[in-house]
Amino acid sequence: MRKIYIFDTTLRDGEQSPGVNLNTKEKVEIALQLEKLGVDRIEAGFPAASPGDLAAVNAVARAVKRATIIGLSRSREQDIDAVREALQGAEDPCIHLFLATSPIHRKHKLRMEKEQVLETAEKAIRYAKRYFDKVEFSPEDAGRTEIDFLCEVTAMAIRAGATVVNIPDTVGYLTPSEFGGIFKTLKSEVPGIEKIQLSAHCHDDLGMATANALAAVLNGADQIEGTINGIGERAGNTSLEEVVMALETRAEFFGAKTSLKLTEIAKTSRLVSKLTGMVVPGNKAIVGANAFAHESGIHQDGMLKEKTTYEIISPETIGLKESKLVLGKHSGRHAFREKLIDLGYELDEEAVNAVFAKFKDLADKKKNVSDEDIRAMLEEKLVETPE
Ligand code: KIV
Ligand code: ZN
Repeated sequence: MRKIYIFDTTLRDGEQSPGVNLNTKEKVEIALQLEKLGVDRIEAGFPAASPGDLAAVNAVARAVKRATIIGLSRSREQDIDAVREALQGAEDPCIHLFLATSPIHRKHKLRMEKEQVLETAEKAIRYAKRYFDKVEFSPEDAGRTEIDFLCEVTAMAIRAGATVVNIPDTVGYLTPSEFGGIFKTLKSEVPGIEKIQLSAHCHDDLGMATANALAAVLNGADQIEGTINGIGERAGNTSLEEVVMALETRAEFFGAKTSLKLTEIAKTSRLVSKLTGMVVPGNKAIVGANAFAHESGIHQDGMLKEKTTYEIISPETIGLKESKLVLGKHSGRHAFREKLIDLGYELDEEAVNAVFAKFKDLADKKKNVSDEDIRAMLEEKLVETPE
C-alpha cells in the first residue's frame, strides 16, 4: 500500500482563518499534539509576516523532534532569510516557497510576464537550496494556471532543486476530475517528475476540498496538505481528518494510506477548536458532535443489534469512547428501554410503555430529551403508582 505523506498547515494556513491568532505557547501546544497524531510535516508559520510569527516558528522548530518543520516564504531573499533564522534548531527543516502562476495573478497581482515568473521562482529556489536540503515549491493558484505553463514551471522547479512541488487550488475552484487531471498530466508530461514528491493543497470554497485531495491521491499525489477541522482562509482548507479517515476506511479503493495515529484525531480536533476559538459544527464529518450520534428509532434499533448497520467507522478508532443514542421524537422503544437500564431503572413492560408515552409527548416539545428529563419523568411516574 502506498504511503501518503500528511503536511499539516493548521499553524499557517489554518491561522489565516479570519479572527484566529495563536501565540507562541499555543502554537507549540498544537505542534506537539500534531506530532503525537503522527503527521509527517508541520508548517509552523510565515516567519517574514511578523517578528512574533518568526519567534513562534522557532519555538515550534526547537520543540518538535520527529516531524519535518516548515516555514513559508515568498520567492524573495528577505523571506528566505527569515525562514533560515526561524528554523534554527530544527531537527528536520524545510522551506516552502511560493509564487503565483495563473494569468489572473500574473496580470493583476504580480504584473509579471510568464518569463519573469519563471526567473523569479528559479532564483528563489536556487537561493533557498544553498541553505536547505528540503525545498517545497508552490505555483500559487495552480488550479487556474494554463496546464502547459504549469508543466513548464514544475520542470523548472525540479531542475532548480525543489524536492516537493505542491499544486494549490488556491481559490477552491476546481472539480475533482479537473484537479486529478492536473496530477495525471504532470506525471506523464514533466521530465524528472519521478525525482520529487507531488503534493495537493486544496481550499473549500465550493465544498470540494476533500474530494479534490482524494482525486489527487488517485492520480499519483504523494502528499496531502490541509488543516485540522478544515480551518483556513475563507471557507477553509482540506480537513485532514476527513482525508485520513477516507483513506483508512476505503484503503482498498485508494490503494494508499497515511501513517497517522488515528486514536489521536478527536483530541487534536478538540485542542485546535479550543485554542483557535473556531467551533466545530455538529454535523462535521469525523469530528462533529453528531458524527457518531443516532436519533431515529430505526437507526437506533439497528445500532443496538449491530453497529455496522449505521456506522462505517467506530468512534473508538478516532479516540472517542462510544457512539451516542440521542433521545428525541424520532427515537424508538428499543433505545428508550436501553436508556432506562443505563440510568439504573428496571421497569416492567407496562411501566415502560407508560413512561414511553410521556417521553414522546415531551420529545414533541423539546429537541433532545436529556437524562435529567427522563429521571424526572420516572420519579413522577413512581410517585403516581407507588408499589
Ligand atoms: O492556497 C495557497 O495557494 C497557499 C500557498 C501558499 C501554498 O496557501
Ligand atoms: Zn492555502
